[in-house]
Parts: sequence; C-alpha cells; structure tokens
Amino acid sequence: MTMLKCVDVTKRFGGVTALHQVGIEVSPGEIVGLVGPNGSGKTTLLSCIAGSLPVTAGRIEFVDREITRSSPHHRAKLGIARTFQVPRPLDSFTVVENVATSCMFGRDRMSRTAALARGREVLDRVGLGRHADGEIGALTLHERKFLEIARALALDPKLILLDEVLGGLNPKETDEGMELIASLRDDGVAVVYIEHNVRAVASLADRMYVLNRGRNLATGTPEKVLADPAVIAAYLGGDVDA
Ligand SMILES: Nc1ncnc2c1ncn2[C@@H]1O[C@H](COP(=O)(O)OP(=O)(O)OP(=O)(O)O)[C@@H](O)[C@H]1O
Ligand SMILES: [Mg+2]
Repeated sequence: MTMLKCVDVTKRFGGVTALHQVGIEVSPGEIVGLVGPNGSGKTTLLSCIAGSLPVTAGRIEFVDREITRSSPHHRAKLGIARTFQVPRPLDSFTVVENVATSCMFGRDRMSRTAALARGREVLDRVGLGRHADGEIGALTLHERKFLEIARALALDPKLILLDEVLGGLNPKETDEGMELIASLRDDGVAVVYIEHNVRAVASLADRMYVLNRGRNLATGTPEKVLADPAVIAAYLGGDVDA
C-alpha cells in the first residue's frame, strides 16, 4: 500500500522551475531519504507535500485521497507533519507551550490542559523533558532541532517530513537524532527526511530519492543509489560529506 504518492509535481517560482515532474512514493512505516545538491528542490518538494506551497502542476495523493489543493491545516489533520529547515519556534512561549500549540492543530481536537500534558510526553520522547518549562532562548541549536521534531510529532502524524534536522549537529548529537528517527519507524510512522549527511541517510533509509536541478535523478536502496554514476556526477564539486 502506498501512503503518499506525488505524480509529476511541478513547481515554478516566476521563471525558476524548482521542481519538474517529480515523482515520489512512500509506504507506511518506511523511511525515505531525500537528497540532492543545494537548490535541487528538496525543501520545495516538502512544502508542496505539506501544502505550504501550491504546486504549479501535478498530483499529490495521501492515503487514497487527492490532496493536491488541500490546505496545510487539512493535510495536518489527515496526518502529515513537517519540520522547517530553519527552526521557527514561538519565542514568547515556553518550550512545552510551543509543542502544545501544535497538539491543538493535530488530528484530534484537544483542550489546552490535554495539549500541555501531551506536549510534555512528546518532549520526554525526544529527550527535552527537562526543558519543558524553560524559555526557547535557552535552547541550543541541537535542542531547537529536536523541538521541531517534537512539534511535528505532537500532531500524531502518519507521515513526518524532516528537513535537515541533523544539520549542524556534532557526531554524538547526530547519532541521537538518527536513533530518534529510527524509533519513529518502530511506531509505524512513515518518514521522509532531507539530509546533507549522506552517512546518516544511507544508514537509516529504506529507500532514497535523489533530486538534481528539480528533477528525479535516481531512486532505490541507499547502496544502489550511492553507487549510481549519475548521482556521483551530480555531487562532484558539491558539498556532500560522504
Ligand atoms: N519562495 C521561493 N521563491 C523563489 N524561488 C525559490 C523559492 N523557494 C525556493 N526557490 C528556488 O527553488 C530552487 C529549489 O530550492 P529549494 O530550497 O527547494 O532547494 P533545496 O534542495 O532545499 O536546497 P538546500 O539544500 O540548499 O536546502 C532554488 O533555485 C531556489 O532558489
Ligand atoms: Mg532545503
């Protein structure tokens, strides 16, 4: 069964074609790595799936329903959650209030009290429990990235879209992040994750998609994709830290 299906998704910004007839499919409980050089369209594809950017052409289906023109809010209700490449916390709220705000937009309607309780649970899950009542300003980069994951998890998603949540982390933090992502699959959540760290992608992903200049370049198991001469050529002179 396919959970998410993007068919011929095209996205143009004025004269710039950020995505050209891109296809991607994700099954329940699958971890899919999305890689490609800078500017290849990864974040744009995530935004089209989450609904924060309208597609120019193409079709997006989620659990046998067409969602191509659905609002981001409706997609969140259906079970699609995302993180942002640059964390966007609400600075005037505490850490747990940030997560609770997400809960209140999730699949089930929740009171503020229930949302705060759920927020604490999710923060424990990502290892930020002790910061629940703290200020956003006191969080490190690593903690802000994990807060992004917590905010997405608070929606109780079926599909979680992660945009470079491991970027800028040290090796120990990266390992913790990878463990967390692997644990999502154990919960049956499907994951699409964008990552520059190819080691992280290759060790976690069941399958990978490579984008290059807004087009599908390769797809398959990490072993197959990383050995593909077209992929190696696309990255030559790029910033892949294999
Ligand atoms: N809001 C926008 N308006 C105009 N052009 C945009 C917009 N967002 C993205 N683009 C362009 O679309 C292309 C794809 O950008 P995108 O951010 O999706 O790439 P990316 O693969 O996520 O890159 P990175 O690895 O640097 O995060 C780029 O040429 C970018 O300049
Ligand atoms: Mg990006």
